[in-house]
Amino acid sequence: MTDTRITTDTQVTTGAHCAADAQATEAATDGRITTPAQVTTDARSATGEPGPVAFPQDRTCPYRPPAAYDPLRASRPLARVTLYDGTTAWLVTGHEAARALLSDSRLSTDRTRPGYPATSPRLRALPDRKAALLNVDDPEHHAQRRLVLANFTLKRATAMRPAIQRVVDERIDAMLAQGPPAELVSAFALPVPSTVICELLGVPYADHEFFEEQSRRLLRSRVQQEVRDARDRLDGYLGALIDRKLEHPSGDGVLDVLVDRQVREGTVDRREAVGLATILLVAGHETTANMISLGVYTLLRHPERLAELRADPTLLPAAVEELMRMLSIADGLLRQATEDIEVAGTTIRAGEGVVFATSVINRDESAFPEPDALDWSRSARHHVAFGFGVHQCLGQNLARAELEIALGTLLARLPGLRLAVPAEEARFKPGDTIQGMLELPVTW
Ligand code: HEM
Repeated sequence: MTDTRITTDTQVTTGAHCAADAQATEAATDGRITTPAQVTTDARSATGEPGPVAFPQDRTCPYRPPAAYDPLRASRPLARVTLYDGTTAWLVTGHEAARALLSDSRLSTDRTRPGYPATSPRLRALPDRKAALLNVDDPEHHAQRRLVLANFTLKRATAMRPAIQRVVDERIDAMLAQGPPAELVSAFALPVPSTVICELLGVPYADHEFFEEQSRRLLRSRVQQEVRDARDRLDGYLGALIDRKLEHPSGDGVLDVLVDRQVREGTVDRREAVGLATILLVAGHETTANMISLGVYTLLRHPERLAELRADPTLLPAAVEELMRMLSIADGLLRQATEDIEVAGTTIRAGEGVVFATSVINRDESAFPEPDALDWSRSARHHVAFGFGVHQCLGQNLARAELEIALGTLLARLPGLRLAVPAEEARFKPGDTIQGMLELPVTW
């Protein structure tokens, strides 16, 4: 049985029903999302007409979209969905339409616009201010991206590989010294990207407990005041750090360079620098941590694929792309139409909300044959798990390098790696946030 409970701030989902499609479908009826909105798991109304599906819903298997999304797969590329607050929006589910719409400047990402869609109360908590980059439209967005782009190129990510390898090895050394068993999220999946982004930005890792906790609240809390407080605490912390760097230039991290070249020269104001620092710090560790934990869980549940990877580590880059596609951890990118847009014979009206279900888009058979199979031999790089268009993930080169090194080294150095609890007891995150494991007890 799937057990969905509300804790103080976030919903916890346990009980992974991944063994067979039939089992997952059966479990889905128990795992309906517990938001206040009316839940519809059947896209057909009583009259037989298609009715809106609730979005998002919890996954019952962490590497599959909820079975309740199946009707959406059958009605690509667009569907109407009901959001948690009872409002409706367009859900993009087709690969070609997704890439066209994510490149369309008539879709805004500015969450301060009236009527902008929200898929959780958390996303309604911050209507007053835009997150840097993510909620900024061009041309302002382009100018912001240029400020930091040079630090996230493929060349820069390649140059960081020895540092990433060192961080990964240190964490595995510590696990070997203390275990088995180990809780992989806290021992490995979170500290690796957290340490790496600290080194890249010039943020002291000694403060990791503070910023990891605030990021967790910002990305997962269902209490709106807690979300606002977390955002303000992160801003306060990074503002103070930037002020210290201004007074005492101390390093060559991204923030040091930003402070030195921009804040000091007056070409970017302090508020913008703090905004950029916040998004880079939060997006730079939480997402990759989720991909590592969920990636390991998925590999452990696919022993044949795992064996192929162990036998031939040159498959790692392809495996990372395929895991990115399969897991689609950022499932529900938000936009709002600023003008009427014709797509696939449908008109999205100005003002309407548009949500991109990456998990469904990345299973579009026309782009990925046999989409439910985990297959290292397919070419999966055209997935939209990093988004697409001008907002496509700034950190994707870094994330790919981290994932290759983290997964590859873990498999090589812990050949007996396996779950330390029954797979059904692993705890994973609810559907209205970035997908990942809450805990991953392992042994070797
Ligand atoms: C596997 C890990 C990651 C995943 C799945 C991921 C996913 C995404 C997605 C889907 C978007 C597009 C959002 C949208 O269009 O609304 C995005 C944007 C972004 N990501 Fe990532 N990301 C990851 C790692 C990283 C890392 C390591 C960084 C490093 C700082 C980062 C920084 C950003 C930033 C700054 C944006 C906003 C870009 C813009 O709006 O121009 N991400 N990410």
